[in-house]
Amino acid sequence: MKAIIACLVFMLALPLAAAAADKSITLPADNQHARLEPGPHRDLTQTQCQVCHSTDYIVMQPRGDAKQWAGVVTKMIKVFGAPINEADAKAITEYLATAYGPAK
Ligand code: HEC
Repeated sequence: MKAIIACLVFMLALPLAAAAADKSITLPADNQHARLEPGPHRDLTQTQCQVCHSTDYIVMQPRGDAKQWAGVVTKMIKVFGAPINEADAKAITEYLATAYGPAK
């Protein structure tokens, strides 16, 4: 029975997949909050930190020093299981403390 259902689902899905193949969508540009400030390790931060959520989370945070950002990065790794190695965590913290450091 299961096999028959799986087969039916597959047969129904096939034309849908074919129809979808020649369509393309253009996503709207990221809102301005989602654009990270330029600076060293920006791309690394963008890649690693938007695996689970948008970078809005970074941009909308109050500015903070290295200690504060290190706390955030450590929390993402230890509490939420972000797969970020030690070297990358250090680079990301440096970037955040510079690009989103205490207001001058
Ligand atoms: C493994 C998934 C994951 C990754 C990767 C991740 N985060 Fe998070 N992040 C979360 C979760 C879950 C929350 C809590 C969301 C909520 O409360 O709605 C969160 C929340 C946040 C917040 C909001 C404040 C807080 O402490 O809850 C900030 C800031 C943040 N993340 C920054 C980062 C940064 C910087 C990185 C890259 C180093 C990162 N996140 C990578 C899962 C992740």
